[in-house]
Amino acid sequence: MAEFDFDVIVIGAGPGGYVAAIRAAQLGLKVACVESRETLGGTCLNVGCIPSKALLHGSELFEEAKDGTLAKFGVKIPEPELDLEAMQGEKATAVKELTGGIAFLFKKNKVTWLKGLGSFVDKHTVKVDDAQHTAKNIVIATGSSVTPLPGVDVDNDGGVIVDSTGALALDRVPNKMVVIGGGVIGLELGSVWRRLGAEVTVVEFLDQLLPGMDGAVRKEAAKIFKKQGMELKLSTKVTGATVEGGKATLTLEPSNGGDSETIEADCVLVAIGRRPNTEGLNLAAIGLETNQRGQIETNHDFLTKVDSVWAIGDCIPGPMLAHKAEDEGIAVAENIAGETGIVNHAVIPSVVYTMPEIAGVGLTEEAAKEAGHTVKVGNFPMMANSRAKTNREPEGFVKVIADAETDRVLGAWIIASLAGTMIAQVAQAMEFGATSEDIAYTCHAHPTHSEAVKEAAMAVRGAPIHI
Ligand code: FAD
Ligand code: NAI
Repeated sequence: MAEFDFDVIVIGAGPGGYVAAIRAAQLGLKVACVESRETLGGTCLNVGCIPSKALLHGSELFEEAKDGTLAKFGVKIPEPELDLEAMQGEKATAVKELTGGIAFLFKKNKVTWLKGLGSFVDKHTVKVDDAQHTAKNIVIATGSSVTPLPGVDVDNDGGVIVDSTGALALDRVPNKMVVIGGGVIGLELGSVWRRLGAEVTVVEFLDQLLPGMDGAVRKEAAKIFKKQGMELKLSTKVTGATVEGGKATLTLEPSNGGDSETIEADCVLVAIGRRPNTEGLNLAAIGLETNQRGQIETNHDFLTKVDSVWAIGDCIPGPMLAHKAEDEGIAVAENIAGETGIVNHAVIPSVVYTMPEIAGVGLTEEAAKEAGHTVKVGNFPMMANSRAKTNREPEGFVKVIADAETDRVLGAWIIASLAGTMIAQVAQAMEFGATSEDIAYTCHAHPTHSEAVKEAAMAVRGAPIHI
């Protein structure tokens, strides 16, 4: 009889966990995955990446119909009407298809789904509800959940103060929405409801939106969102909220202190970050502690300090992104199987799926200088890119940052309608250790938005053609 029930038990079936489970099974291991949700796919497929992108796409089509963009291109339609139920229905269908797809892949790869909440009994045993299962290796992939804001209590069922899950499921367009947090969720979901007719105010603690992104991008993004009609209250914090008669009253204060003011809203979205899910895992049973940020620390192979327990995704340090979790899922499975799984954390792209999109990879100009690099920067405006101009999408730019001495690309930052797609080529170039000259001398198809990346790389050496 085998020593353990499974070679690997993965706890959590988000993009980290389900990918780890499938990859481990592909490598010939006997795998189970514990998931307490009714459907697989974690935050990303159920209440994150996928439903938000469905609403971003739907609301973008509505805005294009409504604001005359379609008419400008000769597509004349009667005054468009919003059918929010249908839009929410399309979102639900996408979620159902994609989460069902993971269930199919589990069956195909013979991954056993242990339904229920998992917790440690010892370093080889996981309790799932009342049953116990053993494995040679256990991978923690429990993801993250919304960080609460003291004094501003989320009640997704009530629909007045909501988190991202509630904001994805609203059955009416709020007249006035206040978004607390000018980060990725606030800007994406704030854009959805603004396009559908809400008056949106974003309250951000810092003096700029999108912390962690390049300074030039943060400045330009603020201009663009303001132009789109979002009100931005920067350097401001929310200190309390009351709800009465379907309306919330928020108390705001300048971040550095000062006089308070109140604003009313019929919907408040709390989006001030996410925190790792580790409570309830009974980590004490295996002698594992979390760090100050509640994350589980691992080594480069994703092994924790307990020799049979690994961890990946949002519950470990690093950006909370689905593709980072997925890559770690592949790497951890390969390491468990005795292969060499590596994730290059210096090259993880991030994308905000607003219109235009905002994307970056590698170092910001500020971080590059702080790290001691002398940098050369090339900028190219999307206005001068023939395809963007033809499509009437002139906003944004590409910024390529290279080391002045070696010309090696250190990072790139893009605001453009297709920034999320364009950033992939820079990530690949950086993975191959490319110089800005390598990008500048790579033939790019014409007319494409990607030509702006080539021109920005040419601009590093001062010689773009089209500006
Ligand atoms: P998760 O996806 O959180 O999955 C963890 C799973 O573990 C969950 O299903 C949970 O139920 C389960 N679980 C937890 N504890 C236990 C337990 N004890 N027992 C059993 N099961 C357990 N990222 C992007 O890259 N692109 C995007 O466009 C994007 N959009 C987003 C939009 C929103 C609104 C949100 C909230 C997030 C978005 N993200 C996006 C972030 C992305 O969803 C996460 O980075 C990603 O899901 C992390 O994957 P994970 O596998 O680490 O964890
Ligand atoms: P975030 O970290 O992106 O932004 C939170 C913002 O709230 C920050 O700008 C912060 O300064 C601000 N803030 C913090 N406390 C505040 C307070 N008391 N008052 C006002 N502002 C305050 O977090 P967000 O948007 O909640 O997203 C969580 C995670 O989900 C992110 O790490 C992100 O990576 C991931 N995500 C990724 C997406 C993507 O890749 N497109 C989309 C949505 C989420």
